Amino acid sequence: MGDMEKMEPKQVLDDLEDRIRTIGVLTSGGDAPGMNAAIRAVVRTALSYDLKVRGIRKGYHGLLKEEIIDLSARDVSDTIQRGGTFLQTARCKSMRTTEGQQKAAAICKKYGIDALVVIGGDGSFAGAQKLANYGVKTIGLPGTIDLDIACTEYTIGFDTAVNTAMEAIDKVRDTSTSHERCSIIEVMGRDAGYLALWCGIANGAERILLPEEKKNFDEEALIKDILENKRRGKKNYIIINAEGVGDTINLAKRIEQATGIETRATILGHMQRGGSPTCKDRVYASTMGAMAVELLMQGKYNRVVGYQAGQYVDFDINEALSMKKKISAHQYEISKLLAL
Ligand code: ADP
Ligand code: F6P
Repeated sequence: MGDMEKMEPKQVLDDLEDRIRTIGVLTSGGDAPGMNAAIRAVVRTALSYDLKVRGIRKGYHGLLKEEIIDLSARDVSDTIQRGGTFLQTARCKSMRTTEGQQKAAAICKKYGIDALVVIGGDGSFAGAQKLANYGVKTIGLPGTIDLDIACTEYTIGFDTAVNTAMEAIDKVRDTSTSHERCSIIEVMGRDAGYLALWCGIANGAERILLPEEKKNFDEEALIKDILENKRRGKKNYIIINAEGVGDTINLAKRIEQATGIETRATILGHMQRGGSPTCKDRVYASTMGAMAVELLMQGKYNRVVGYQAGQYVDFDINEALSMKKKISAHQYEISKLLAL
C-alpha cells in the first residue's frame, strides 16, 4: 500500500491489473512421477505469498469441464512420495481448437485464475501458449518421462522411469542368461530415444535401437552381430528397442528364425510411468514448482522452467517451443563401444 501511494494513478491501475491473487495448477498429457511434488511446491509456495490456489483436475479436459477445486496446504500433505498425479491428467482434443482455447481462457477468468502453472510436456506447453495469447499468465514445468523437451536437460519423471525400466531389464537379463537367449525389450519414449539410450547404457545392452537412428537400422548386420556375439562366448544378447522404433514382437520372431537362437520380446509399457518418485525427481520437481510461483511473483510469466548445465533456468514459452532437441551421438557411440 505504501508503495502504491507514491505511484501515478495509471501506474496503480496497471499494477492492480497485473497483480496475481489466484494461481491455478494442472497436470496434462502423460502422468510422470514427481508431478505431485511439483503441485505441492506450487501450492505451498503460493500460500506463503498469501495467494489463493486452485487445482484443476484432469488437465485441459477438466478445465473445460470446470473441474476446479481450492487447494490448501493440507490438501497436498502425504503426496510427495506418491506416483501419478493426484489432480489426475488427460489428453484433450478440444484444447487444440480456437473455440476450446477461448473457452478455457474464459473459465480461468470466471474462477479468478490470474496465472496458471501447467505441468506437462511440449503439447501441454502449446496449450499454455494459446492461453497466454488470451491473457492468462502461464508458467510451464517440464513433466514427462520421455525427456524430450528441448529447453531442458531434466524433465520431471524421467529419473524415476529410467530407474524403473533399468531394474525391470536387469530381471529380464537374469532369465535371458539362464536360457542363453536373445531378449528384445521395448521401453517408452514416444518419438524420442532417451529412455532407450539411458537403459541401454545402464543395462549393458548389446544393441540399442533409437527412433533417431531408425533410417540407419540394418537388420542383417544385427543378425550377424547376434551370431558373432554367441561365438564370442556371451550368454545372452540384450536389445533395448525404443517405442518409436516399435515392431518388437515381429523383430523377435525374425531374429529367432534367422539365428536359430531363442528370442523373447518384452514390452515394459505403462509400469514405467508409475511408482514412487526418486529423490532426484522429488527435489527437482519441488524446486521447479517453487520457482514457477517465484517467477510469477517477480512479474515474469509465459515462461517455461528448465534445467541446464547445473542451473535452473527459464525461457519465454515461444522460444522454448521453437527449440529442437538432439539425442547425444557421442553417448550412442559410447554405448556401442561398451557392448564389445
Ligand atoms: P505432452 O504435454 O506430454 O506433450 P500431449 O502432446 O498429449 O502431451 O499434449 C497434452 C495436451 O495438451 C493435449 O491433449 C492437448 O489438450 C494439449 N495440446 C497439445 N498440443 C496442443 C496445441 N498445439 N494447441 C493447444 N493445445 C495443445
Ligand atoms: O509421454 C509419455 C508416454 O508414456 C510416452 O512414452 C508414450 O508414448 C505415451 O505417453 C503413451 O501414452 P498413453 O498413456 O496415452 O498410452
